[in-house]
Formats: sequence, C-alpha cells, structure tokens
Amino acid sequence: MPLQLQTPHEIRQQIWKELGRASKDRHHAWRYPVLATVGRDGAANARTVVLRGVDAARQTLLIYTDARSPKVGELAEAPDALFVFWSARLHWQLRVRVAVFIDIDGPKAQALWQQVQHSAAASDYLGPVAPGTPCPDAHSGAAAVAGIHHFALVNANVLEMDWLELGRGKHRRARLLADAWQWVTP
Ligand SMILES: Cc1cc2nc3c(=O)[nH]c(=O)nc-3n(C[C@H](O)[C@H](O)[C@H](O)COP(=O)(O)O)c2cc1C
Repeated sequence: MPLQLQTPHEIRQQIWKELGRASKDRHHAWRYPVLATVGRDGAANARTVVLRGVDAARQTLLIYTDARSPKVGELAEAPDALFVFWSARLHWQLRVRVAVFIDIDGPKAQALWQQVQHSAAASDYLGPVAPGTPCPDAHSGAAAVAGIHHFALVNANVLEMDWLELGRGKHRRARLLADAWQWVTP
C-alpha cells in the first residue's frame, strides 16, 4: 500500500528515510537504482548499481565502483548524472539529478576500502583487467593481484529530485530542490 503522506515536508522526509533504509537493507527496492550518465560519445548510458550510503544532512548518495570502469571516465568528463529508483511497495519512482565527485585515493575512499577489502565483495575491485575489456570466454577472469585494488567511491551530491507516486487513478508528482517544492502534472 502506498503511504498516505500529504504535506511536502512529510513526503520529503519519507523519501530520505526510504533512501537511508535502502542503503542498509538489501531487500529494499531502492537498493538497486539505475545510474544514467552521458557517454563519452555523447550518447546516453545507464547501469544498475548498489546504493551503499546516504547522508540526508549533506544530501549525498554513495556508490562503489571500479576506478577503471567506463562510467568513471564518463563521470569525470560529465559529472552531471541521474539515479532512477522504483519501488513497487511504495508505488514511488524517484529520479535524482546529481553532481558526482569520484574519490579514488582520498581519505574517505581509503577508509572504506579498509572495510571492503575484508568483505566478499573485495574481489570486485581486485581484478587485474579493467571492466569492459574483451575476453576470450565467459570464464576467463584473471586472478586478483594481491595488494593492488581499483576501488573508487562515487559521491553524488543531490541537486534535484523528481518524485512520482502512482495512485489508483490519481497520481502525484513533484520537483524537489533543496529549499523548494513544486507540484507538477504527473
Ligand atoms: C544488481 C546489480 C548491482 C550492481 N551494482 C554495481 C555497483 O554497485 N557498482 C558498479 O560499479 N557496478 C555495479 N553493477 C554492474 C553495473 O551494472 C555495470 O555492469 C558495470 O559497473 C559496468 O558499467 P560501466 O561499463 O557503465 O562502467 C551492478 C549490476 C547489477 C546487476
């Protein structure tokens, strides 16, 4: 059942609450948004990612990636990106326009790598070959090189949100800026 939230303040608070939950709960649908970028050829590009962290006070979202992945190059050239979330439980779509900063060896990335390197996901950042490199067959993943990691932190500063609620016959939509709320036609 969609939540019966009425005021812009209530809805905004619930959006950030759900984002925070999604960053901690692997069963939350918002845990797996699509991150859309502008490709280096100017064409659209998009992929699923895991929402790893949310800071409501600073209005930031965090994801982890391989520093060599094409998206990192794309974001370095065009840091404006878009997350798209959908929750069938909430009946909410959220599109979040962000300005991205990639942290590869800053203190925050280094501190997080200290945790990630002991987790099952560590191998995602230890492969010797860059993501997207052609390989001879599906099982040709080369062994990790001890000590050399390619962990990168994608810090996304929220610029604007587009919230859409699908209701029975009555939809609601709003554009949220940090200090403004605009109802829009769904
Ligand atoms: C459920 C799911 C979660 C994923 N999470 C991440 C992630 O958190 N970070 C990441 O870099 N890639 C993640 N991927 C892989 C990306 O979708 C993508 O295939 C990969 O990062 C290469 O993207 P790029 O070529 O645009 O850089 C995930 C894929 C799936 C299916």
